[in-house]
Amino acid sequence: MSKAREWIELHRRYLATTTHDPENLPLVVERGEGVWLYDVDNNRYLDFSSSISVNNLGYPSHPEVIKAAVEQLGRLGHAAGTDFYNPYQVQLAMKLVEETPGDFPKKVFFGNSGTEANEAALKIAKISTGRPLFISFIGGFHGRTHGTLALTASKSVQKKRQFPWMPGVFYAPYPNPYRNPWNIDGYEHPDELVQRVLEFIEEYIFDKLAPPEDFAGIFFEPIQGEGGYVVPPRGFFRELEKLARRHGILLVDDEVQMGLGRTGRMWGIEHFGVAPDILTTAKALSGGLIPIGATVFRAELDFKEAGMHSNTFGGNALASVVGIKVLEIVKSLLPHVRELEGLFRDELGRVKEEFSKVGDVRGLGLAWGVEFVSDKKTKKPDVEARNRVVREALKRGLVILGCGKSSVRLIPPLTISEEEAKIGLGLFREALKAAL
Ligand SMILES: Cc1ncc(COP(=O)(O)O)c(C=O)c1O
Repeated sequence: MSKAREWIELHRRYLATTTHDPENLPLVVERGEGVWLYDVDNNRYLDFSSSISVNNLGYPSHPEVIKAAVEQLGRLGHAAGTDFYNPYQVQLAMKLVEETPGDFPKKVFFGNSGTEANEAALKIAKISTGRPLFISFIGGFHGRTHGTLALTASKSVQKKRQFPWMPGVFYAPYPNPYRNPWNIDGYEHPDELVQRVLEFIEEYIFDKLAPPEDFAGIFFEPIQGEGGYVVPPRGFFRELEKLARRHGILLVDDEVQMGLGRTGRMWGIEHFGVAPDILTTAKALSGGLIPIGATVFRAELDFKEAGMHSNTFGGNALASVVGIKVLEIVKSLLPHVRELEGLFRDELGRVKEEFSKVGDVRGLGLAWGVEFVSDKKTKKPDVEARNRVVREALKRGLVILGCGKSSVRLIPPLTISEEEAKIGLGLFREALKAAL
């Protein structure tokens, strides 16, 4: 038996069942170098997953992030960031305020994950508006605690035996150009698709289900990640913003997966020209080294009294220093990500033409989704084909992850070179040939 299989057996004996899939992705990682991962049997893989957009700066992290972290470890790792004061979290907060959209005063709450960042956003929205209800989008993922689980609507298994989750969330269809309830071709008719979604919110949710003045916030991902790397029409968020402003509802932008350079801009929402009232981030802010989550919000929405919300590790010195360095480096990589976008767009466009089971290809920057269908006319999702592609890619030394019902995401570290990107796209094509 390979060492990998032995570790997988032990893992299954001692660890809780989560999202591991030993059939499609039997990868036991021992170490990483740049964009390459090595497993316990010393096999080498090119990583097109960034560990779900956490290792945006590669493995084990960017050398400058490691240097900053090691220096900080010699000074201070943690000292009650929520009870004492420390300069590091203030510096990171200032940087986040500067780097997020919106020319208005902002404040930051620090936690340890994307889920916590969204949980804080829920509380901030409820407290500041005094309203109890929320809207989120079908296909969206925002976490798995009882508050954020209520917002999540990407796979029903996530909610199995959990009812009641937080009450008061209403779901709207996301403007998915390829697959939507109205069978509109959203690439050909983006405005019509946007209008249908807005009508759904106004005419179904607000007219029939609950009055708009009871809604605190609308949660969204600028591009749906777990839902399948779905890019909405460019005009969508501006229209959503108008609707939200009309009714005094806050826009909550979940950038946990799409933020920090993934789409070629610092934040996904920058492609859509909207400044959200609350923005959440996590994953890549960690540099792949230490968990962190941050909720950046209009200053006037702040918690009204000390103690209404807090935690233990939020704003710890080490994570803050890492986060500052990550922001600096991601900013310097944005032109590189935008340059590589064309390579992915062209090659995946060709793939869509050539393979009858590739129904849709969409993406921005280094955030690409490829959806598999049994036939391009019926668009019936082909989950088996997707799983075969993931397996065949791994056999060839390329790590990709599934998303949505029958899609894969191609999301390499932003530090990937053009040559490495070409190698990865070549391996992907070979995997498609073997699997489809
Ligand atoms: C968009 C989005 N929001 C929230 C989360 C939850 O983040 P975490 O797993 O760090 O709690 C995720 C995780 O995949 C995500 O993709």
